[in-house]
Amino acid sequence: MTKPAVLVARAVFPEVLDKLAQHFEVSANQDDVVWTPLELIQQLQGKLGAFTTGSERIDAALLAACPDLKICANMMVGYNNFDLAAMTAAGVLATNTPDVLTETTADFGFALLLATARRITESEHFLRASLWSRWRYDMFAGSDVFGSTLGILGMGRIGQGIAKRGALGFGMNVVYHNRSRLDAATEAACGARYVSKPELLAASDHLLLVLPYSAESHHAIGAAELAQMKPTATLINIARGGIVNDAALAAALRAGTIAAAGLDVFEGEPKVHPDLLALKNVVLTPHIASASMPTRRAMANLAADNLVGYLVHGQPLTPLNPHLLAA
Ligand code: DGY
Repeated sequence: MTKPAVLVARAVFPEVLDKLAQHFEVSANQDDVVWTPLELIQQLQGKLGAFTTGSERIDAALLAACPDLKICANMMVGYNNFDLAAMTAAGVLATNTPDVLTETTADFGFALLLATARRITESEHFLRASLWSRWRYDMFAGSDVFGSTLGILGMGRIGQGIAKRGALGFGMNVVYHNRSRLDAATEAACGARYVSKPELLAASDHLLLVLPYSAESHHAIGAAELAQMKPTATLINIARGGIVNDAALAAALRAGTIAAAGLDVFEGEPKVHPDLLALKNVVLTPHIASASMPTRRAMANLAADNLVGYLVHGQPLTPLNPHLLAA
């Protein structure tokens, strides 16, 4: 019996390809070529499944040109590269990788917060440039994390992980805003208090963004929001590019509207706004919040298990449009 054909659109752990090869004819991309939309369509011809990352946009035009496609398994928890409505309309199942990256990503959010507040990369660059000649009372003096107010915009699994780290580990006063308020028991477990968005902006010494990207959250932080923050505040974005207006943020950082920013995601990444690159009071990392080896393995395995689960057993593990299964 011929095996169903699947495409693995980006390079991945070899053992994950081996696992997929037990069930499928696998077309891999271990050279990690980032295909144009047209090349992706060509690669998907005759494929029933696709293992995707955030680089592959799955929209109505692609779906119309790939009639054999039944499932796209994203190796990410975020899925803004999917037009979920178009996928559902085309009967194509979508899956993502929730839970397996929660703690690693929360760790990274905290790492970026600490690096930004305590000016770690800026001071390292100074030292490496052989500019350090003596101690000075205010040299790279940043802002305190312990005991300060941590604001979290978007209180899903990762936001809750960050809240616990702040409340339990750093004695922080944690406030959050979310589309829907958490139940009282979850709020208590996170040590977090629900506030309105204006209250969150005004109260936060450190504001962490962890909300999903959507038309609704596009530029959730722009010039107007930055103007409501404390001049001593730091802003950390580990969510998605486009949630922050990067040009407005660069202007605010330059003007001293807020003190500093830590950014793991960018509008139009991997390009980074040139104004951000020119600033010292911003810590920049290349979308690596989930990048520990164990977590990246777990994400890749979950995406592969979703392909096997659906195409072989009819039951994916983490579907985003599960009503297709009942249809
Ligand atoms: C995700 O899974 O959405 C993360 O952004 C990956 O790092």
